[in-house]
Amino acid sequence: MNGKQYTFLDLGTVNRPYAGALKEAVCRVIDSGRFIGGTEVDAFERSMAALCGTARAVGVSNGLDALRLIFRAYVELGVMRPGDEVIVPGNTFIASVLAVSDCGLVPVFVEPDPLTMNLDTRLVEAAVTPRTRAVMPVHLYGRVCYDATLRDTAARHGLKIVEDSAQAIGAMSATPGRRGGSRRAGALGDAAAFSFYPTKNIGALGDAGVVTTDDATLADAIRQLANYGSDRQYHNIYKGLNCRLDPMQAAILSAKLPFTDRENDARRRLAAVYEARITNPAVTKPLYADDGSAVWHQYVVRVDDREAFRSYLADRGVETGVHYPVAPFDQPCYKEFGGLDMPLSRRLAATVVSLPVSACTSEDDAREISEIINSYKTK
Ligand SMILES: Cc1ncc(COP(=O)(O)O)c(C=O)c1O
Repeated sequence: MNGKQYTFLDLGTVNRPYAGALKEAVCRVIDSGRFIGGTEVDAFERSMAALCGTARAVGVSNGLDALRLIFRAYVELGVMRPGDEVIVPGNTFIASVLAVSDCGLVPVFVEPDPLTMNLDTRLVEAAVTPRTRAVMPVHLYGRVCYDATLRDTAARHGLKIVEDSAQAIGAMSATPGRRGGSRRAGALGDAAAFSFYPTKNIGALGDAGVVTTDDATLADAIRQLANYGSDRQYHNIYKGLNCRLDPMQAAILSAKLPFTDRENDARRRLAAVYEARITNPAVTKPLYADDGSAVWHQYVVRVDDREAFRSYLADRGVETGVHYPVAPFDQPCYKEFGGLDMPLSRRLAATVVSLPVSACTSEDDAREISEIINSYKTK
């Protein structure tokens, strides 16, 4: 034990390189006197659409609302009806599922592929029923969940593909998207939701999110729904919500967005160290490809005796996380799904451990953490 601390994540450290630009952005908004909508939000939306390669981007309040608004808009536009089904992975963050059920739609859980830890696209076909209207690939941990199987299954059954890109800003698909063109997360399906929760690869200084899409009708409906359902002032065509992105967060994000690739590359370098250095057979490493496609929002290993492993690491100063310890269908709010036969999702929930992979970790740290991991012995 050398007494050194390996921080999992400290948002002060993460934002320090941007401090000057962030302060300038905040001052600009204060000086503008405009605190809802306006040019800061417009500029951020243009940058986000350009980054993803989509025709439209609509800034919204957070990632859950981004997803929720996509489904709500599909319902309002008559593409989906309450009671329709949406296929979701069994091992995602709860927000993916909340967005579906909040709109009166029914989540249908599909097991992950244990190699990618993403929705197993080969199992989607068997989950389709006459009421299925959409599939939600979640690009979990920053790895794109998109392939020809998913694209073709969705096309065959007329399903919308709604990407949960919350963890995957800047990630790339090996398979061309539904409409060709950009292979970036956010441009692969029919609509995508991003989160800028402060811990994300590009984080706001508060809550923020965005929807990206090429579908102008959907984008307009989302913008209206997020603004009390109004298409013009004091004229409400939907029973809407207030889910707007505010100019302060937009200005902050505009300062950070140009550094998306730099942030992601730093994470890729750490993932490469872990991939090369961790050799302990008790620790299953995530699937690794040296093609720069994943953005490693989390670097997640699997260990049978998670608590022993985590406390071994904690004793040696290595902070870790668990994303996520309980499958969504096992949460108390989803009692109706209790007893689902989803052993893989539960197995992942019981064994996943996230290693430090943020800007708080240097490549030397990752080498040292790997050595500590290699000295771990199972009882
Ligand atoms: C996979 C996934 N979906 C949705 C969300 C929801 O985003 P937010 O926290 O901005 O509401 C998050 C992040 O928290 C997430 O990780």
